[in-house]
Amino acid sequence: MKIAPSILAADFARLAAHIASVGPEADLLHVDAMDGHYVPNISLGSPVVASLRAATEKYLDCHLMVSNPGSLLESFAAAGANGITVHVEVGDTDALLGRIGDLGCDVGLTLEPATPFDAVEPYLARLQTLLIMSVKTGFGGQSFISGVLDKVRMAVKIRAERGLSFEIEIDGGINAETGALAAAAGVDILVAGTAVFGQPDPQAAARSIRDAAMAASAACA
Ligand code: DX5
Ligand code: ZN
Repeated sequence: MKIAPSILAADFARLAAHIASVGPEADLLHVDAMDGHYVPNISLGSPVVASLRAATEKYLDCHLMVSNPGSLLESFAAAGANGITVHVEVGDTDALLGRIGDLGCDVGLTLEPATPFDAVEPYLARLQTLLIMSVKTGFGGQSFISGVLDKVRMAVKIRAERGLSFEIEIDGGINAETGALAAAAGVDILVAGTAVFGQPDPQAAARSIRDAAMAASAACA
């Protein structure tokens, strides 16, 4: 089980220190880019990724909630992104996935809670990461939509049937309780913003999510 704290909930005025405060409990750092068009909110772009790259060795897991990710792939890769995830809803998926791989980044694809699993199914063999959104994208601090766990179970099943190796990540409304539900369904990577950086002790908060998730997956094994 991997924990990916989402820096969207971090204090941008002291980003490096806030990230460091999670210590070894952060396996990856989830970086949410929002363009004010695909989603109403604006967050950050590749200059922030470059600053993060200089401040940490952690894997930078970049989630592009933008209408035209094709215009950003080069700059995110050059800034030091390790993985780049695009939305199936923006289209041109074949070309985008190919370009992410060509840039040497791990290839990620995601879908909104309202988008059926069929939309990502044809691309699974090309992915390192399948990100299943458990809130409608745009803002941190929303409530977990448990209905998306059916997509997690479907991804687990198809991955086994086809002998694929992508990791299943979930994003939105994750805390110890919902993280346990996601882990029991078969998720590999839990993204958590508010439940980590919104807490007084981010490292302890991340550990409690991990502990709850590990207990839930062990119970299902
Ligand atoms: C939502 C973002 C999420 C967000 C999660 O649009 O993609 O990564 O930061 O925040 P929490 O964990 O607070 O729901
Ligand atoms: Zn995200």
